[in-house]
Amino acid sequence: MGWKPISPQKKRRSIKITEESLFERELNVYFLPNENIKNHQLYILIDILRATSSISALVHCGAEEIFVTDDIEVAKELKNMGYLLAGEREAIKLEGFDFGNSPLEFLNNSDKIRKKSIVLTTSNGSKAMKKINELGDTIALSLLNFSSVVDFIIRRDFQNIGIVCSGTNRVVSLEDSYLAGLFVQKIMEKRTYNLNDGARISLNLTKSKRSYVMNSDHAKRLKNLGLKDDLEFCFNMDLFQVVPYSKQNSYTFKNSISI
Ligand code: MLT
Repeated sequence: MGWKPISPQKKRRSIKITEESLFERELNVYFLPNENIKNHQLYILIDILRATSSISALVHCGAEEIFVTDDIEVAKELKNMGYLLAGEREAIKLEGFDFGNSPLEFLNNSDKIRKKSIVLTTSNGSKAMKKINELGDTIALSLLNFSSVVDFIIRRDFQNIGIVCSGTNRVVSLEDSYLAGLFVQKIMEKRTYNLNDGARISLNLTKSKRSYVMNSDHAKRLKNLGLKDDLEFCFNMDLFQVVPYSKQNSYTFKNSISI
């Protein structure tokens, strides 16, 4: 008997198409936001130093929402609508802003942050956010909220995830790539995914000593600016049980529990 094509009718009946089965099980790491980023069901944004650590701290402090923008003027306009302003350029707090981009500063002012809307503008993290939140729903990952995000991903069994590192000034950063590797490693303990080369490279970084990673280029910059306490704080694991989640195109993080 020769080969016979399946009639289109039969084929349609035999394939069950759900939203999830449109995606293969893929876990991809992108070391910079300007790489050729594929369509994913969900994106994980990483900027340990310090945007995603700050976002985790703000959610932990009870902020109602955190709107992220790379435009200082847009941030200033939101002041009139009752937003508190947070942000930096070159890691230095912006003039006239309520806060810089410091997780420790947020924690020390949690009473002022609770139930408030915050606008956050940063040098690199907010540019990366602009790019990836346009592509899909986005979670902010840092070491501070590592296990909460891992548990959330496992529980919801997301099929297809893009992990995007912010880098610093269009250059790959060691600390973000290292966290991407830790995340891939942890997720792969519980679920199976196809990994892209970026994910495989990041896995190799997980063998690095924390002290080695804490001496990255941007870490040195922060130390030189007298921000050593902030740097060390960002390397604490699992201090916060939060999953900052931003729906596609909203550029606004809320704790996943409230979504
Ligand atoms: C950024 O987004 O570039 C960083 O968060 C810079 C910083 O350390 O404040």
